[in-house]
Amino acid sequence: MEYLVKSGKTESQQTGCLVLGVFEKRRLSEAAKQVDTASKGQLTAILGKGDMDGAAGQSLMLQEIPGVSAERILLLGLGKEKSLTERVYREAVQTMFRVLSTSGARDVLCTLGETAPKGRDRNWAIRDAVQQVETLLYRFDTCKSKKGNGLPNAKKITFMVPTAADVAPGRDACKLGLALGRGMNLARELGDLPGNICTPVYLAEQAKKLGKRFKGLTVETLDEKAMEKLGMGSLLSVGYGSRQESRLIVMQYKGGGKSAEPHLLVGKGVTFDTGGVSLKPGAGMDEMKFDMCGAASVFGTIQAVAELELPINLVGIVPAAENMPDGIATKPGDIITSMSGQTIEVLNTDAEGRLVLCDALTYAERFKPASVIDIATLTGACIIALGHHKHGLMGNNTSVVNKVLAAGRMAADEAWQLPLGEEYDEQLKSNFADMANIGGRSAGSITAAQFLARFTGKYKWAHLDIAGTAWRTGEKKGATGRPVPLLVQYIIDQAGD
Ligand code: BES
Ligand code: MN
Ligand code: ZN
Repeated sequence: MEYLVKSGKTESQQTGCLVLGVFEKRRLSEAAKQVDTASKGQLTAILGKGDMDGAAGQSLMLQEIPGVSAERILLLGLGKEKSLTERVYREAVQTMFRVLSTSGARDVLCTLGETAPKGRDRNWAIRDAVQQVETLLYRFDTCKSKKGNGLPNAKKITFMVPTAADVAPGRDACKLGLALGRGMNLARELGDLPGNICTPVYLAEQAKKLGKRFKGLTVETLDEKAMEKLGMGSLLSVGYGSRQESRLIVMQYKGGGKSAEPHLLVGKGVTFDTGGVSLKPGAGMDEMKFDMCGAASVFGTIQAVAELELPINLVGIVPAAENMPDGIATKPGDIITSMSGQTIEVLNTDAEGRLVLCDALTYAERFKPASVIDIATLTGACIIALGHHKHGLMGNNTSVVNKVLAAGRMAADEAWQLPLGEEYDEQLKSNFADMANIGGRSAGSITAAQFLARFTGKYKWAHLDIAGTAWRTGEKKGATGRPVPLLVQYIIDQAGD
């Protein structure tokens, strides 16, 4: 899809489909009012017939309205004007997309920028609409014989803005929305790929491909031998039971000053999580192919940041492994030594995310990071705590945590903070090693973060548990592309500081 921005008179623009918002009780948006006047009250007359009253979710396609250059007019219900929420706005964009998918319209002129949700401005509305359309275009058809079903005819969406001075900021909003949408789609594609294709080595290859696409991006991958040399006994222990080799993927984007400290993103890349010897139950186990969605969000964010050429230094680190049971797999009770030197008693081989992350987090120290955020589908407990709506967030630095919270709000990809504390850390006591890898049934998301906190003492760190938000189950099963919007926003904010 191509996204453009234009100013001028809405009613005299040539377009296949002009999209206008209508509020509840048949109140016309400003753009709709102009068009209504140009058509000598046609919109008011049609609405008066009772086909649409502006309730959220409604839509009405009109053809050949006199006095207007557009071939079609699509009216979208936006609900109550005083309380237009982000949800209703997003639903309206989805409705627009759905209607366009069965319309002959070749291009679209969209005025929804003028009906931004409460607390947001026009450019946010444009950015969000572009992000949404771009992600609505995503189809996972890599493994299907029939491709590209149900896509709209239209190949171009133009957003109307009031004056010529609004065009440039509108274009920036499109550019950002496009980079966000594409970043999410990359994360979704990697997430949706099955475990037999998306292996640690496959992820490493994809990283190298990404590195070739952007001149500011260099990619290095460490194989098992290299990790052994570094003493990454914890990361390596997760892959012992798998025929798939583990990898540590390091992607460095240099858009900032030579000596500027980089921000780091560390994404859990367990390409399939059977639980290992502490085997998971069979029902729904297929969804554990999504256990590398933290890694996928790092790929998506780096791609977006590189496309936007943000003036910042950013490093993405992905510890990638497959967690399988086998004759030489790690067993409950086994004690391993992490790169940090701390020893870990593996009481449950299904708590493997923290085991791959801890060595990556120790490796992170060498970059002298300005901040480190790890992203992981880490605990089922996080779904119990927060459901599928907000990411779990914990950290050792109030300022970084607050910046992550703010970035999530700005990008409408929200996180919610959970506490850390000594009392939780005590749950990780082991009789035989420096720590156990599980902390009992209570506060499972917090004790997992507490485990990671033992490896992040040397820098400012935040942890995102995306177990509930990285993918959808049921009929719409598939990766969501979250938290790419939050992460890109966070990097944008740091680049501006
Ligand atoms: N990948 C899972 C977490 C998960 C489970 C995410 C379900 C989404 C849905 C992780 O590796 C895991 O198995 N965690 C265990 C930890 C437990 C053994 C302490 C869990 O949450 O049950
Ligand atoms: Mn697990
Ligand atoms: Zn896992």
